[in-house]
Amino acid sequence: MPTIFMFYFLYTGVFALLFPVAFGSDFLLPHADDGAVIACNLLKKKFPKLTSFPGTEQFVNDTEHWAISSQQNSTCSIEPTSAEDASAIIQIIGRPDIRAPFAVKSGGHAYNLNSSSTPGVQVSMARFNDVNYNAKQGTVTIGFGLTWDQVYERLEPLGIMVVGGRITGVGVGGFSLGGGYSWKTNQFGLLIDTLVSVEVVLPSGEIIQATNSSHPDLFFGLRGGLNNFGIVTQITVEAHPQSLVFGGSLTYSSETSDEFNSAIEDFSLNTVDPKAQLVAGYKSNGTQFQNQLFMSYDGPVPPPGIFDKILSIPAVVSDIKTRTFVDMISTIGDLDPGIGPFGFAQHVVPIVHYTVPILEEIKQQVNALASRLSAENSDTSIVVRIAPEPFFSSFAHSRGGAYPHPPGRQVNPTATSLAYSIDPEAPLADKIALQSKFASEVRNLASLVQAKAVEEGQSLWDDILYDNYALTDSPLELVYGENVPKLREIAAKYDPEKVMMLTGGFRRFQD
Ligand SMILES: Cc1cc2nc3c(=O)[nH]c(=O)nc-3n(C[C@H](O)[C@H](O)[C@H](O)COP(=O)(O)OP(=O)(O)OC[C@H]3O[C@@H](n4cnc5c(N)ncnc54)[C@H](O)[C@@H]3O)c2cc1C
Ligand SMILES: *[C@@H]1O[C@H](CO)[C@@H](O)[C@H](O)[C@H]1NC(C)=O
Ligand SMILES: *[C@@H]1O[C@H](CO)[C@@H](O)[C@H](O)[C@H]1NC(C)=O
Ligand SMILES: *[C@@H]1O[C@H](CO)[C@@H](O)[C@H](O)[C@H]1NC(C)=O
Ligand SMILES: *[C@@H]1O[C@H](CO)[C@@H](O)[C@H](O)[C@H]1NC(C)=O
Ligand SMILES: *[C@@H]1O[C@H](CO)[C@@H](O)[C@H](O)[C@H]1NC(C)=O
Repeated sequence: MPTIFMFYFLYTGVFALLFPVAFGSDFLLPHADDGAVIACNLLKKKFPKLTSFPGTEQFVNDTEHWAISSQQNSTCSIEPTSAEDASAIIQIIGRPDIRAPFAVKSGGHAYNLNSSSTPGVQVSMARFNDVNYNAKQGTVTIGFGLTWDQVYERLEPLGIMVVGGRITGVGVGGFSLGGGYSWKTNQFGLLIDTLVSVEVVLPSGEIIQATNSSHPDLFFGLRGGLNNFGIVTQITVEAHPQSLVFGGSLTYSSETSDEFNSAIEDFSLNTVDPKAQLVAGYKSNGTQFQNQLFMSYDGPVPPPGIFDKILSIPAVVSDIKTRTFVDMISTIGDLDPGIGPFGFAQHVVPIVHYTVPILEEIKQQVNALASRLSAENSDTSIVVRIAPEPFFSSFAHSRGGAYPHPPGRQVNPTATSLAYSIDPEAPLADKIALQSKFASEVRNLASLVQAKAVEEGQSLWDDILYDNYALTDSPLELVYGENVPKLREIAAKYDPEKVMMLTGGFRRFQD
């Protein structure tokens, strides 16, 4: 141990008081005012097998993210196994003399630093991996350590399904607490419209089963309010019977874009069968433009007409057929941009219907940005992608909640994103600078597309931005609209000590 630390240690005596056990390599040396170090040592003492430090496989698992740009080196990580563990952990983290920065990670698909990553205590929900079907109630209880593809694999043999993620790897946690657009959304709404109860560990350590009748305010806040109210361990949602589905994915070259745009406009304006859904992709790496299509019909055979126009366009790659739901999800895949380790910035444009002029603008802006950024960053691979989601009844099943999705004003979240290759070993400051540069590019991209949509009468500048797609520094009012004052009250009531302010992300309801 370096003498200076020994001196510091003897001087403060803090470490000896807190940890009478030998500290060796299992514990960290104290630094002045470092809540994370104090919390990590306390956690290691209380949960020796569940707490990890850098350099271990468990730590790597706990801190890993889908995009390198939202990942960081924590002081330690911990994997609670029960709500009681989570309660003890949050009480240590939030203790008035500690107040350690922390983050809670489910599937690790957040795009923004500090939302589910931290320089302090990384809480990983990995061990909450139960799925329990209650046939009598017609509900499923799902642990927050699972990804949706894992949930579907467990439900398919039971002949049921739930409103969950569309893409492999997305976590149950963030998806469910943010809103949740699913392949079932036209039929049943967002995930938050199918929610029955939420098990949440409040910053006080109290464990609550929140339902609409037991805690109407908290239950409201949790439906879109993400990590503002506590650590959520599991949710109970409605189940629906599942048959075979028809769907999969297709890729088209730039040459067929006009037909593609016209087919997407037709689908967006005319399709009224709630079992039919698609997500369109406009993607370029600066030299090659492609259209993508992910398609799902929730039944073995779609009625004639619905997909005829789009399926008549010659595709470069096509994998569409009648298959199991699980097989369709695995065909659609994980949206890895295919450029090795990558950073990712995303924003969103709210659009009612996708008309041809909007889709043409999307193609043009994707190409322009990808070409410019590729030229400006010759040592970086860039993939720009915009994804129209032409729902027709996504808000029709709304039961309200923090995320405003009123049936009277349905807007579709159009993800505008940018993936860039990145050195995973680069210093954090460099990663933050890069991310901030590319985040402003996607903000600008979203604004150009929205201008066209506004001109076409398909968007308003104050339409709500979907929290799970938006940049974290978006104005709170654009994300939560008139719910903001109510959400501030709920946060003040359930987190009076502002413990959840020690974690990151946007949508902060307390100052
Ligand atoms: C490839 C890809 C595909 C996507 N597809 C869809 C889609 O089809 N539909 C859709 O609606 N969205 C989609 N999204 C967006 C996705 O829903 C969000 O990124 C979501 O937040 C990810 O959840 P997660 O659990 O994987 O992420 P995490 O990074 O683990 O968490 C995200 C947020 O949730 C909070 N959180 C996680 N667990 C807890 C917990 N236990 N308690 C309290 N707070 C918690 C985190 O603190 C963080 O703020 C997609 C994203 C990606 C990258
Ligand atoms: C880390 O994750 C991998 C892949 O999920 C798993 O096989 C492995 O057991 C995990 N290791 C630890 C120590 O948790
Ligand atoms: C992470 O932090 C630890 C100290 O807590 C340090 O030893 C290690 O080198 C860091 N790793 C990276 C990749 O920065
Ligand atoms: C992330 O959180 C840490 C700890 O609270 C803070 O110091 C840092 O500035 C945050 N970084 C960003 C990019 O928000
Ligand atoms: C773009 O993608 C195509 C097809 O994958 C590839 O051939 C080309 O090299 C890529 N261009 C760049 C600049 O990465
Ligand atoms: C909650 O209960 C209230 C009052 O009974 C009702 O109006 C509301 O629709 C319910 N919300 C949900 C999400 O079930």
